[in-house]
Amino acid sequence: MLRKFFHLLNKDLEEGNKIANQGLSNLKNKKVITIGDKTLKIDRKIAEGGFADIFRVNDQAKFSDSMPYALKRMWVAKPERKKGNLLEDASEVDSVRTAFNQEVKILKQFPDCPNLVKMAAFQEFEKRDGSEVFILLEYCPHSTLFQLIEEHCKAGLKGITNEKDLYKIINDIANGLRVLHSKNVSHRDIKIENVLIGTDQNWKICDFGSCTDQQIVARGQDLDEAFIEISKMTTMIYRAPEQLDQYKGCDISTKVDIWALGCVMFTLMFQRPPFEDGMKLAQINGKYNLPAQPSYSPACISLVKKMLQVDPNNRPTA
Ligand SMILES: Nc1ncnc2c1ncn2[C@@H]1O[C@H](COP(=O)(O)OP(=O)(O)OP(=O)(O)O)[C@@H](O)[C@H]1O
Ligand SMILES: [Mg+2]
Repeated sequence: MLRKFFHLLNKDLEEGNKIANQGLSNLKNKKVITIGDKTLKIDRKIAEGGFADIFRVNDQAKFSDSMPYALKRMWVAKPERKKGNLLEDASEVDSVRTAFNQEVKILKQFPDCPNLVKMAAFQEFEKRDGSEVFILLEYCPHSTLFQLIEEHCKAGLKGITNEKDLYKIINDIANGLRVLHSKNVSHRDIKIENVLIGTDQNWKICDFGSCTDQQIVARGQDLDEAFIEISKMTTMIYRAPEQLDQYKGCDISTKVDIWALGCVMFTLMFQRPPFEDGMKLAQINGKYNLPAQPSYSPACISLVKKMLQVDPNNRPTA
């Protein structure tokens, strides 16, 4: 089950990277890069996201054993750039530009929370075909929740059964969300790949490109455009019912992150997500399968159920 889930995610990655990798200079062959006031030695590529490559880099001015940084690189193509006979998809290009601007804005706005990844600098380099944009981040060396689950899966374990560990993870993410939500900012892409553990042993939310401070009031509005934007900036299996059914008449608020946190908690508990691709109707109606005899306390099951309430007003706040 989980393997199928990972396979689907990898497929998404390949598709997303089509735009991200176009026109990029090869950082592997570059040894040094200057971002803001920092001259950095490039060590190695550590990950690929849907729109970004992430590198481990070291500050040249510091001793070699100093903490490295993570360098996130994205490519914003010029919309008019020709690819074969086709024009580059302008809306895709806009999404990457919006994501970069938004991520930098949010990282600047929330510099002090131990559960939100911190930014050290950012830089844009204009090129002939577009812009290469960089965000220098605090380095989280160990893993994401995705890797944690993968390790549990390989070891034949049945989820994060130690409830203390489970609560630490959920509490850390909720703490990060509380800070964002206090300014009415919704993250909109809470998922197991976007939560990292830091050197301070705190779990941290990353990837702020899909954040918004817009709440959508459903009544009497044409929601077509809003739903197109949602489909670009969020991940299908984590979408809340109100993000899937535009005729539900439900406002779309920070509560979408609580639903996604419910999906994360469920995945940590049962090594599978509550909803998979192709289960849109079940997702809209909040119909998921819990194991018949779950090995968790009633309080734990009750928490996940509360977060996966169809009516956002019935979900807890962060
Ligand atoms: N600060 C960091 N320290 C270590 N690894 C990181 C850091 N930031 C990101 N990563 C790794 O890079 C991956 C992709 O990062 P990120 O989610 O920011 O990129 P993205 O392209 O915006 O993602 P998405 O695929 O969600 O669109 C993460 O899942 C994680 O594995
Ligand atoms: Mg991500």
